[in-house]
Amino acid sequence: MPKSLISINDFSKEDILHILSVAREMEANKTQRLLEGKVVACLFFEPSTRTRLSFETAAKRLGAKVIGFSDVTNTSISKGETLKDTIKMVSNYVDIIVMRHPLEGAARYASEVCDLPVVNAGDGANQHPSQTLLDLYTILQTQGRLDKVTINMVGDLKYGRTVHSLLQAMSHFDPTFIFTAPDALRMPAEYKTFLQKRGIPYTETDSLSEHLCDCDILYMTRVQQERFSDPMEYERFKDVYRLEKSMLTGVRENMKILHPLPRVGEIAEDVDNTPYAYYFKQAENGMYVRMSIIACLLGYK
Ligand code: CP
Repeated sequence: MPKSLISINDFSKEDILHILSVAREMEANKTQRLLEGKVVACLFFEPSTRTRLSFETAAKRLGAKVIGFSDVTNTSISKGETLKDTIKMVSNYVDIIVMRHPLEGAARYASEVCDLPVVNAGDGANQHPSQTLLDLYTILQTQGRLDKVTINMVGDLKYGRTVHSLLQAMSHFDPTFIFTAPDALRMPAEYKTFLQKRGIPYTETDSLSEHLCDCDILYMTRVQQERFSDPMEYERFKDVYRLEKSMLTGVRENMKILHPLPRVGEIAEDVDNTPYAYYFKQAENGMYVRMSIIACLLGYK
């Protein structure tokens, strides 16, 4: 297994399945003092609720201590300290670094300037590999398999790092994709080329209703306001899709709706009480998967 979790592409199918299998053990036994005496740094240069809190909880459930920040204005970065110096300093204090940063490649860079394992908790529009692992865990939990699943990805497929990482990870498992997005937010060409090279089928549409009944997983995403350079462009697309309970007539019985969250209107609250809504359980799964990631990277599983 690689030293760090930077991109899901660095992990083989076997590595991925191992992390999912350890996560299942963690879900069955939610407190395991495997990391007594260890310290985990959670460095969040960008806002987060789920990722930061679930990593912190995961570390604590494993018996580790947590240090870090969620607001750079209270750190010496606001005085001009570089990312390199920040990482080198923190690496003297802890055993593993979890970091989120707005710049693509920041986590990779951090892993190159220190000797510790680094977990990429999101780098710009690039990758969010721990989200991907929890998405895979949730797909396996809801479908009983990862192979031959049809996933309909909806929303901001251009800037959404979760869909980019998930697409690449699912390529190990013979999937079929449906991409539902307005023209301006379509899945970037590099990811479609990635699928074409592997013979993985995909369909594109801009209509949310067109393929609702054709998928096992409906993967909803938020339009990523923070990635738009033009606020008017964001205004044009922010409400492009809204899934409502009345639209779910005729969907597959096994279909589950996932969303990395936060949602900002793309799933109406009346969907929450349908048997298809699974996004809050998906977020809970993040804690078990992140327990597994930390334990595996530190060599405890
Ligand atoms: N899914 C996700 O990354 O959520 P947060 O931004 O709240 O961490």
